[in-house]
Amino acid sequence: MKTPITITVNGEARLIDVEPSDVLLDVLRTGLGVKSPKIGCERGDCGTCTIMLDGRTARSCLVLAIETDGHEVLTVEGVLQNGELTELQDLFIAMNSFQCGFCAPGIVLAAREFLAANPDPSRYDVQHALAGNLCRCTGYEPIIDAVLAAARGITEEVPA
Ligand code: FES
Ligand code: FES
Repeated sequence: MKTPITITVNGEARLIDVEPSDVLLDVLRTGLGVKSPKIGCERGDCGTCTIMLDGRTARSCLVLAIETDGHEVLTVEGVLQNGELTELQDLFIAMNSFQCGFCAPGIVLAAREFLAANPDPSRYDVQHALAGNLCRCTGYEPIIDAVLAAARGITEEVPA
């Protein structure tokens, strides 16, 4: 039986009816039209469905939507600042960090959370922090380069 819930998604209260077994990933994408969380492994392994739930990253494929009633979800659509990409997102673009982009929404959120807690990370720190977000295209190095550049306040320089 469907139950009405209200989730605040990217700052906007959204009312939707969900089945007890509906996962948040499907409700966001199909029910609410929020498409940045991607459908990957659907078992918590790949990180492509990453969202922020009440300020912390979560795998939306592992969260029952009904349990998010009254909670706050942030997706990459919601991280824009005054309609502009963040500095971190600009660096990802400048450094050609992504190819197909399928992993990008999850990695942006994971990197953003990581940098907030670790403003001066080592390369290993970044590798470790993003280990749960798989990318099939890039070999990870340009992603890590951009996160390190963001931490160092580099906005334009592209490392060789
Ligand atoms: S789809 Fe959720 S972790 Fe892979
Ligand atoms: S850029 Fe294609 S999966 Fe990461």
